[in-house]
Amino acid sequence: MTTAETAGKVTHADPGPDLIEVKMHIAGPREPAVGIVVKNERCTAGRRAAGFVRHIEVDVSETPLAGSFVPGQSFGVHAPGEDHRGRPHALRLYSIASPTEGEDGSGGVIATTVKRLIDENAEGPGLHVGVTSNYLCDLKPGDELKLSGPNGKRFVLPARPDEHDYVFFATGTGIAPFRGMVLDLLKIAPQSRIALVMGAPYETDLIYDQILTELSEKHANFTYLPTVSRHAHRDATPGCYVQDRLETNQDTLGELLCSDRGLVYACGLLGMDLGIVQGLARTLPPEWVGRYLSIDPEVAGEVGGWTRKMVHRQVKPTRRVFLEVY
Ligand code: A2P
Repeated sequence: MTTAETAGKVTHADPGPDLIEVKMHIAGPREPAVGIVVKNERCTAGRRAAGFVRHIEVDVSETPLAGSFVPGQSFGVHAPGEDHRGRPHALRLYSIASPTEGEDGSGGVIATTVKRLIDENAEGPGLHVGVTSNYLCDLKPGDELKLSGPNGKRFVLPARPDEHDYVFFATGTGIAPFRGMVLDLLKIAPQSRIALVMGAPYETDLIYDQILTELSEKHANFTYLPTVSRHAHRDATPGCYVQDRLETNQDTLGELLCSDRGLVYACGLLGMDLGIVQGLARTLPPEWVGRYLSIDPEVAGEVGGWTRKMVHRQVKPTRRVFLEVY
């Protein structure tokens, strides 16, 4: 450890953890692997969820992609057909929701979490239906799926996972990588402490709620904090955004973060990145903020006035903070 890494001090020189080595681009988008869909089921908590989110499993065991994905990576899909200009549909990336060992224990079956994109047309009555998300959500067991990848090497677990404790923030389908990471960590880093804050509009829209609840009941080192924004929680605390948990659950989250072991990962809606950096700046003791954020002194006093544009410029997450927003 360098002197710059001593507790809560300057973080510019802090290289952050080494990340695990990953495989990349084994199957390119022009020569995708052909997997077979083996499962496609709803994965929201309630039957009357406002959004339609599906857990889709694909068998890639007979392809070069077998055993090649880790949580935090994604795969690419070109939906069949052409867009309104006659060109092939654009490549869309979907996060792996599986642990490293896949759904089958040997990396042969991978999963992803897909929300149907449905909106009203901007120009008038009628529906705009997202092409690739609805194509995936309509696939049936036995259907073929062409996929490329793996993609991504920055939003993955550290190379020595047991040297860290983790606070994960997810909104919506941003939960996908954390399903895999939590399953990996509970196996390979049983001493590490993990807190997962999952955000959804309503309780019915929480994703993977049952498995996450069960895991938290089974593993004392895993805290699951389901968080809803549009109604009160079961314990009657008001609805809130995931980053508000930094304040309401300061006892758990603050304790994990005020430590040399702490890492923050956030995945989900564009905008939550700003909320997370503001939450960290507001709730962590000053001597620990620098561990996670490098803040231009000129803007340090006006956390409430920060904008998304300032994130990565005047307010730079250090290499202990991993942000993936879309
Ligand atoms: P809301 O929509 O009530 O404003 P989903 O992807 O299923 O819609 O869920 C996303 C969740 O993230 C919702 O609870 C949504 O709240 C919430 N959300 C929206 N904007 C932000 C933001 N800037 N930071 C954190 N959470 C957000």
